[in-house]
Parts: sequence; structure tokens; C-alpha cells
Amino acid sequence: MTTNAGAPVWNNDNSLTVGSPILLEDYHLVEKLANFDRERIPERVVHARGISAKGFFEVTHDISQLTCADFLRAPGVQTPVIVRFSTVIHERGSPETIRDPRGFAVKFYTREGNFDLVGNNFPVFFIRDGMKFPDLIHAFKPNPKSNVQEYWRVMDFFSHHPESLHTFTFLFDDIGVPQDYRHMEGSGVHAYTLINKAGKVHYVKFHWKPTCGVKCLLEEEAIKVGGANHSHATQDLHDSIAAGNYPEWKLFIQIMDPDHEDRYDFDPLDTTKTWPEDILPLQPVGRLVLNKNIDNFFAESEMLAFNPALVVPGIYYSDDKMLQGRLFAYGDTHRHRLGPNYLQLPVNAPKCAHHNNHHDGYMNFMHRDEEINYFPSRYDPTRHAERPPIPPVVISGRREKCSIEKQNDFKQPGERYRSWAPDRQERFIRRLVDSLADPRLTHEIRAIWVSWWSQADKSLGQKLASRLNVRPTM
Ligand code: HEM
Repeated sequence: MTTNAGAPVWNNDNSLTVGSPILLEDYHLVEKLANFDRERIPERVVHARGISAKGFFEVTHDISQLTCADFLRAPGVQTPVIVRFSTVIHERGSPETIRDPRGFAVKFYTREGNFDLVGNNFPVFFIRDGMKFPDLIHAFKPNPKSNVQEYWRVMDFFSHHPESLHTFTFLFDDIGVPQDYRHMEGSGVHAYTLINKAGKVHYVKFHWKPTCGVKCLLEEEAIKVGGANHSHATQDLHDSIAAGNYPEWKLFIQIMDPDHEDRYDFDPLDTTKTWPEDILPLQPVGRLVLNKNIDNFFAESEMLAFNPALVVPGIYYSDDKMLQGRLFAYGDTHRHRLGPNYLQLPVNAPKCAHHNNHHDGYMNFMHRDEEINYFPSRYDPTRHAERPPIPPVVISGRREKCSIEKQNDFKQPGERYRSWAPDRQERFIRRLVDSLADPRLTHEIRAIWVSWWSQADKSLGQKLASRLNVRPTM
């Protein structure tokens, strides 16, 4: 055993004293306590509770006609990945059986840099503009006075946002509490853009489907599982990988020609909408296999940093406003949570050669032995990389703050509700009624909700109205 500076530690049991008082010159004691005092870093502001695992992504179907992304170049190509699953709202040590979306974030360490697909288990999101994200999270987080999550705050906030109905048909559905991380789907949620060598562009949505199927916990099961083990999903993931029972997901894409963007009765770049699979079918692309547990939770899960802004040539963003908002937020939060050099941390660093002139700053540990730290220079061979194809679309318009035109907030939630068997509908209604029955909610707020659900599905609205004793407003 040594100190951090490498000097031998000859006694790690007793502090250095003269009589009883401890001497400040006990360097090892001071260093040990000081290190311990600083062990924690800020937890993620959302998705604080989670776990990661490593593995690979393998292309199974040729989509090189759609994208020039190197890691998608041909069937059989494998790329190392790290995946982090999470819950969204509660703190780092919270139970894993709560009703909450689950994060499903995949970092592909490609030869052209890291591609982060930072998605959720639901294919849609509550809102369509990142401006509202902090408010949404505040409403779901514990009441700042009581520090308890209270659904009257949730239902109050969302009573201003009918675009959230579709995501509530996932949150209050059985899949609102997945059985564990292995038995859930994943989705990139946003429309992304794939671009091929010739510059031809397609919009795509990414979907992960678990090969072992989707399973959920109903209320009584969740109470039992969570009561016995508040880390059951973390343990399940760890134990299955340790036992050689490797979790696997198939990756599918839905493909849309951007020229057809206006053909639909919804806006394809709206995160509150799914793309109908009968018109835009799921096309297989590859498989994700998690075959290695992490060695160290802090280094490989706490300090793991995803960012939807990390794309590679052949994959680009879309004009989805939520995605655009996220492009700023992640690097920003990582600089706060992990420091400006978070991309040097081994788990975040690309596995390919990388170079630029951003340097120094707190906790920089890159050893650079060079005199040219500017660009361009006739003494340094560094050149621009080859220009990747980017969407050629011409953008013009007035500066304005406005919502999208085709909101169509009620059709998809209604269709989803009607697709369920009666017992599933009944459980959904019960969860809605439970949250709307909160005594802090006013009659007005309940009536708004009933009117919205009536617009999604008339019979659903009638059932809610009668159970909540609210007169339907339409
Ligand atoms: C503009 C809207 C959004 C903002 C501002 C935002 C912000 C954040 C922030 C600050 C974190 C914590 C990151 C960290 O400390 O490591 C985070 C994590 C995360 N977000 Fe978002 N988010 C937004 C929308 C979304 C959406 C729509 C999804 C799903 C498609 C999503 C999925 C995730 C996931 C999966 C994580 C956890 C990543 C991990 O495992 O480390 N977020 N988000």
C-alpha cells in the first residue's frame, strides 16, 4: 500500500498521535479522509439511477444504400458499444420498480468517432419543444416543499399539454413498469437523417426489440419485487451477463423519404408521434449483444456521458425541435457534472485516433508533446478531414417562436387505447383515475383531462367522467 504519491504506507490501521490528539502531519490519514470526503460527484439531473454493460453491435442487413456510416458499411461488421439503462425521475439510489420511462442509451465506438443513440423505452415523448423540458421534469420530480413525487403537480402541468396524451398511453400502460432492463424495447424517439455517399437523404426512426420479449410488472408484482430488492433490474442485468445469458436486441429502422414529409396527418418530426408501421414498416439492420459486465460502476456508469449531438458521417440530426434542444443540453451538463475534459475519460473517449487543438483545462490528462497547437500551420501535417455528405436542404424563414402546425394530439393515443384488450384498458383507466383523483386537483383540471381523453376515445372519456364524477365537456 502506498500514498497517492507512491510513498509506502506502513500503517493503515491507526492515526499518528502523541498521546491521544492526532498529528496533522499524518499525511496518509489526511489524504485518505480528504479523498473520501470528495468521493461523490453530482448525480445526473435526470436519469440518475442506472446501470451500464458492454458488448457489440453487428450489422445483419445491408443499408449502405441509405448511409455512408462506416460502422453500417456491410453485414457482419461489428462495433464495440456500451449501453446504459436508467429510470428518469428519481435519485441515484431509488428503486427500479417505479412507473417511469426507462432510458436506453447506446454509445457506438466507431472508427469514425462515437455515435450516441440516446433513447428511451417508449417511442414517443411528452412534449415537442425542449423549451418545456425543465418544467416537465420539475413537475415529475418530488415537490420542492415535501420532497415527495405528487401526481397532482404532474396532472396540473400536463393539463396545459394535450400533446402528452400519447406518451401517457405508454406511462400508464402496463409497460410503464418494465420487468427489468432486458425485457424492454428501446427507441431513438426522434427522426434522424441518414445520408448516403451520393448525398441522398432519408429520415429514419431507430427501434430496439429485445429477443427475449417484452415483460412488465403489474402493481402488486412491482411492490413485491421492489420491496425485496430495490436494485432488482441492475442485478438482473449483471447476473444474466455473468451467467452467459447475454441480452440481445434487434435494431430496426423505419424509413421516410423527406419529400413525403407533408403526406401525413401528423408532423413526422414531432416527438409525440409514432410513424405508422403499416405504412413505414420496420426494416432490420443489426443486433446488439451485451456480453460483458462493467468492472467499475463509478468509472463506467457514473462517469459515462452520452450526447445526442455525437453523430458520425452518414448520420445527421433532423429539425425535430426536441432533438435540436438536446444537442445543446448534454455537453453542457457533462461539463458541469464531469468537467471540461469529460471526453478524455476512458469510457467516453473515442477508440479511434482523434486530434484537435482544444486543450488544457481542469483535470486534463492528455500528454501532448508538440509545439504547434494552432491551425493551420505549415509545420504541422494536420488537415481538415474529408467533408461528409450533409443534408443539402435549403433553409429559409422568419425568426419566430411558434408551435408546429399539424398537432393532431388525439388520434394516435385513441388508436393505441382501442388496440388493447379490455383488461389492459381497464388497468390504464384505473391508473389515470388514481392520479386524477388526487384531492389537490381541481374540478377544472379533471374536466380538462376528461375532455381530452374523450377526444382521443369517446368511451374512454365517458368512463373517466363517470368514475371521477366529472361532466364531460363534449
Ligand atoms: C430538450 C429536451 C431534453 C433535455 C434538455 C434533456 C436533458 C438531459 C440531461 C441534462 C441528462 C443528464 C445527462 C448526464 O448528466 O449524463 C439527460 C439524460 C438522458 N436523457 Fe435527456 N433530455 C431531453 C430529452 C430527452 C429525450 C426526448 C430522451 C429520449 C429520447 C432523453 C433521454 C435521455 C437518456 C436516456 C438519458 C440518460 C443517459 C445516460 O444513461 O447517461 N432525453 N437528459
